[in-house]
Amino acid sequence: MATNDERYDYGKTLIREAGGVAYDYFKSRDELKIESKGLQDVVSIADRNVEQLIRRRILERFPDDQILGEEEEGPAEFDPGRPIWVVDPIDGTQCFLSGIPTWCVSIGLVSGGHIDFGLVYDPNADELFAGGAAYGAVCNDKPIRASDAASLKDGMLEVGFSHRTGVDWTARVFSDLLKDGGMYHRSGSGALSLAYVAAGRYIGYFEEHMNSWDSFGAVPIIKAAGGWTNDVMAGDGLTAGSVVVACGPNLQAEIKNLIWPGGNHAK
Ligand code: IPD
Ligand code: CA
Repeated sequence: MATNDERYDYGKTLIREAGGVAYDYFKSRDELKIESKGLQDVVSIADRNVEQLIRRRILERFPDDQILGEEEEGPAEFDPGRPIWVVDPIDGTQCFLSGIPTWCVSIGLVSGGHIDFGLVYDPNADELFAGGAAYGAVCNDKPIRASDAASLKDGMLEVGFSHRTGVDWTARVFSDLLKDGGMYHRSGSGALSLAYVAAGRYIGYFEEHMNSWDSFGAVPIIKAAGGWTNDVMAGDGLTAGSVVVACGPNLQAEIKNLIWPGGNHAK
């Protein structure tokens, strides 16, 4: 029986291969036909072909594993007894197609009811973020730590947004953050930004709704880097996504108070 250690090692090689293919498409992106999936939501053959490559490689090596990817329908139901690879072939597609280098490939492995490890590869910077509870947190094999900032005034909070939700919650968070002397940043790739939280580059992250393929690659790295995130697997988080809040170890109380003032877990 294959082990998750084997999956982790295989995943690290695979994500670099997939990132290389995506990067080749990025260099000739003017030739790509852009299709719309919805409001401010685009896709091209690059996303689809990179996902197909990842799917093919996973099933060649681990034929009994399951895959949930952004661009292809998964099975109607997943068997919780078998590992599930959660794949975003190109996260930050709008940036990718606009010639902006903030995009990445993201892969998380759900196994035994939790996210065992995550991988985020940025081909433009040639940075591979990897980690999980059993593996530590690294960028290109060097250990990383989440920021030790103790105040929202002490760095940048990445705020993601998609039109899958309304604007009110995010607008209120922006307003309170800025009034309190904080600062936001928006890269256009949620997965890469979360990896940056693991590396201590952003002090935290908030997005009202992320799909599992946007967050599961980075969440275990953040935790292994000493940071905190909400439980993105809670309820039907795997198939329906969830709010995502993340930060370094000393910012939990303050960020929770910004996102859910007074402990009120409503918007
Ligand atoms: C999107 C990006 C964006 C985030 C959205 C995602 P896509 O993914 O990660 O930063 O705010 O929630 O849907 O469409 O570029 O793969
Ligand atoms: Ca995505």
